[in-house]
Amino acid sequence: MNASIEADAAIEAGGSRRLVATDSECSAVAKGMPEGFLWGGAVAANQVEGAYLEDGKGLSIADVQTAGAHGVPREIHDHVHEGVYYPNQEGIDGYHRYKEDVALFAEMGFTCLRTSISWARIFPNGDDAEPNEAGLAFYDAVFDEMRAHGIEPVITLSHYEMPLRLVTEYGSWRNPRLIDFFVRFCETVFRRYRDKVRYWMTFNEVNETMNKLTPFNQAGLIFSEDENANEVKVLASHNMFLASARAVALGHQINPDFKIGCMVQYPTTYAKTCRPEDVIARRLNMMPNYYYTDVMVRGRYTNLCRAQLRRLGVEFEVSEEDAATLAAGTVDYIAFSYYFSSVASSENGDDLLVERKNPYLDRTDWGWPIDAVGLRVALNELYDRYQVPLFVVENGLGAVDEPDERGYVEDDYRIDFLRRHIVQMERAVNDDFVELIGYTSWGPIDLISVGTGEMKKRYGFIYVDRDDRGRGTLARSKKKSFDWYRQVIASNGRVL
Ligand code: BG6
Repeated sequence: MNASIEADAAIEAGGSRRLVATDSECSAVAKGMPEGFLWGGAVAANQVEGAYLEDGKGLSIADVQTAGAHGVPREIHDHVHEGVYYPNQEGIDGYHRYKEDVALFAEMGFTCLRTSISWARIFPNGDDAEPNEAGLAFYDAVFDEMRAHGIEPVITLSHYEMPLRLVTEYGSWRNPRLIDFFVRFCETVFRRYRDKVRYWMTFNEVNETMNKLTPFNQAGLIFSEDENANEVKVLASHNMFLASARAVALGHQINPDFKIGCMVQYPTTYAKTCRPEDVIARRLNMMPNYYYTDVMVRGRYTNLCRAQLRRLGVEFEVSEEDAATLAAGTVDYIAFSYYFSSVASSENGDDLLVERKNPYLDRTDWGWPIDAVGLRVALNELYDRYQVPLFVVENGLGAVDEPDERGYVEDDYRIDFLRRHIVQMERAVNDDFVELIGYTSWGPIDLISVGTGEMKKRYGFIYVDRDDRGRGTLARSKKKSFDWYRQVIASNGRVL
């Protein structure tokens, strides 16, 4: 019996879902990925760099979020409070240790690395007339380092780290003035890194603007009591669509070889039962997500977008000028993160009920369902719908790692998680003919969690000696998964 069938059988029998298949079993089933497939990892500047005020950098929205925990939300401040611990301000000190980190990624054989440019390092306040040369020089050095190791930079332009002043002074993306600020930032980095970076994406998980109650990370939004939150979300999203479309059009002018994508969180959703109303509930849960990909890939507000606006109770008209901008700036590919799936039902009547609990799935220490097949579903749904290349730019397991007395982490659970997802990705490509550019697992090195601000929620192949209070030497060490991922890449996905 091959590894994944055996694992599936064990699950059906109610057995352990932490079953770890042997290498030979997996290598027997994996056909591997096409030639030129990009393998690597994904991080974001705000979660690794630290150095939050160094070399002219301004405050970003990540720098004013306190540490939380599982079930304890992070606080958002509008300035830095004396004596409060803000984990992103130091990150994992990637600003000073990027050479060591890139060398470790290269040792694993990465052919690409997804990271972001901190907007506040380039335009410290967001509205500055001139960019900060020291910030630009830093990313020159980072991209040169990657290229020297044969690693293709894959760059997110805005990954949860916009300059704080754009929030406090301008009201963030509800204000259309941000469009010009963002486009100026993009133009600056497109020109500067024209020959160093080919793959770009505009906003990280842009669809979370609509999905979250307080979309602060995605769009810098906090709502006042007299505001209609849905109207603000629609307006802010529209401004981000315009900013993205203008950036895409400009990027293609600056370098026609640029590949510029959108980036969404893909929430694979199952209908809870075969009750027809549950199938409608599933559609309702997907609508706010396709709302973003429809506009950014198709360049227009589709019928689904109109239905979503109706559901939100928001009247929204697109001017002819804006419609032309959107149509002229469609993206080249869809990048997405995939962590878990959900279940939708109509049990609450007209109110859509979405649950993470799925009796067929195990959950992580943070309660996220583990669903490798859901990645194959996601790849097929997106490709069927849009027929543009896809890029899996985040997928990984946040877990508590316990180093042994030698300081070594035997993270078989992480290997098992990633192996299962890669098997499904391989099926989507080889059996379903989905066009896929690459795979970057989320956080190849332990970093600050967005959701909780913890270090304890670790994703890496590389352990970082740092705890939730900012204590530790920051020393890097390889976990068991480090060597496993190296052999995955060396075999182009054949040896899992
Ligand atoms: C995605 C983000 O939402 O999920 C990442 O793009 C984030 O920045 C990742 O780190 C995992 O979430 P968390 O809360 O575990 O850090």
